[in-house]
Amino acid sequence: MRKPVIAIDGYSSTGKSSISKIIAQKLGLVHLDTGALYRGITYFALNNCLGANGEINLSDLFNRFNEIQLEFKLVDTELVMFLNGQDISTEIRTNQISQNVSLIASQKEVRDFLLDAQRSMAEKGGVIMDGRDIGTVILPKADFKFFLTASIEERTKRRFLELKGLGIETDENSVRENLVSRDKTDSERAVAPLKKAEDAIVIDNSNFTKIETIDLILSHLSHF
Ligand code: DC
Repeated sequence: MRKPVIAIDGYSSTGKSSISKIIAQKLGLVHLDTGALYRGITYFALNNCLGANGEINLSDLFNRFNEIQLEFKLVDTELVMFLNGQDISTEIRTNQISQNVSLIASQKEVRDFLLDAQRSMAEKGGVIMDGRDIGTVILPKADFKFFLTASIEERTKRRFLELKGLGIETDENSVRENLVSRDKTDSERAVAPLKKAEDAIVIDNSNFTKIETIDLILSHLSHF
């Protein structure tokens, strides 16, 4: 039997990735965290494509896509992100990446570069993909679409704890500022903005635990 294709979109720090990962384990699906792809390109740009004033030189980046190989490899039971053979799964979570990734993600060239790789992963079914434009642009025919949202207070708390857990030093104010500014850039950009697909199920999980959100999503999937 063909396994489903599930799109999970929504705001930053609504738990999209960790929730998708657990659902993938429960249902035997492959999970793709598409935000990691944009973070990986940002990591490459910050290390290889800086202009004289330390800003990212976008045209240099666009000319060097052929030097970028992003892969997910199965390590133990987890898909780990590699850039040109190097495990960058921790490096892509820093504040510096978070502060620059929305600029990178708003570039049509970058989105086009990543489009086919994302679509081809879903061709055979059995995939849960989380991001901002999965239900609207990448997989408009997904079997299930969810759009996650939560209050800015709750999301700040979650992101702060996540970064602390990764050993990344920060404070709640800068985490909050970064979330607000990314929400704005991601929602207002011209190409593939963060937007609920018309047929997506909206879940506001401000007052839900992770397990409660997972159970709610699973209850919608039970008829597949
Ligand atoms: O999910 P995340 O916070 O790791 O995503 C990082 C950034 O990448 C976020 O600011 C928006 C962007 N992004 C996107 O534009 N489209 C996606 N499908 C996934 C992420």
